[in-house]
Amino acid sequence: ADTMDREELLFSYKGILYPATICSPEAFRAMESFEARPDDVILAGYPKTGTNWVGQILTDLIATFEKRNQDEENHVNKEELEEFPYLEIGDAEKYERMSKLPSRRVIFTHLIPENLPRSIFKSKAKILLLLRNLKDVATSFYHFSNALSALPSYESWDDFFIAFMTGKMPWGSYFNYLSEWNKHVDDKNIMTITYEELKENQALGVKNIAAFLGLSLTEEEIQDIVERSSFQSMKKNSPKTHGALGTALFRKGGVCDWKSFFNEDQNQAMDKAFEELLAGTKLGTKLKY
Ligand code: A3P
Repeated sequence: ADTMDREELLFSYKGILYPATICSPEAFRAMESFEARPDDVILAGYPKTGTNWVGQILTDLIATFEKRNQDEENHVNKEELEEFPYLEIGDAEKYERMSKLPSRRVIFTHLIPENLPRSIFKSKAKILLLLRNLKDVATSFYHFSNALSALPSYESWDDFFIAFMTGKMPWGSYFNYLSEWNKHVDDKNIMTITYEELKENQALGVKNIAAFLGLSLTEEEIQDIVERSSFQSMKKNSPKTHGALGTALFRKGGVCDWKSFFNEDQNQAMDKAFEELLAGTKLGTKLKY
């Protein structure tokens, strides 16, 4: 996208900017009456925190468990009924279609709690909150923005850095996102996981997620899920799963790539903002780096 179009590409909903190419005020209004189910699994994470990765793990965990436990007679072909998994991306009729999907639904979202439909909190649906180092999120977001026409592009990394620090960008500020979700960290139905801990020990991460969902799986099933969700497997499969988007999405898949982009001033500015806004919060503690 052209940098000149930046403002036109975005619209504001409850004070936060969203990309008008893939979201709309009409759909957001329709979403307000979306009905969550107690057995829904909500994957909440700011863009570029590893949503597709953890989404793959969640979907695979549930599919593996259901396949083993479902008798032939009641078999539902979930693939035929698929809906784009991001709650806030799509048309206003999306929610009507979602109401017809069989359980358990896995729903991804980049929204802050305030902007989510109330039923998600009322239903006690399980929420997996995914976090990632802010500097790596910024780095990943910069590259993704410039690769995707649905998002505003930036002339330079410095230009993007300003947008990231001020939150004048799609899905708003990550600092604000974390402060808002911090209000929910003690909710019973929420589990947090970081990109970094999953990267360090993926099998353990998958087991923790399975336990949170109340799914018991064999060691072998867990290993298969780990294998299918590795960066290499997902990247290799991406032409099938994500089409042309795959190349931009499965970029590096690592930790600390930010070191190649941040200059010393930017590094200090981000550390200072982190200290001021997040260091004293529970979510901030999980993001110490
Ligand atoms: P990088 O741009 O740093 O490589 P999202 O899915 O929320 O858009 O996040 C995308 C980020 O997650 C990208 O980060 C991408 O490479 C990374 N990612 C995707 N699949 C992954 C996997 N299986 N393992 C590790 N990282 C993965």
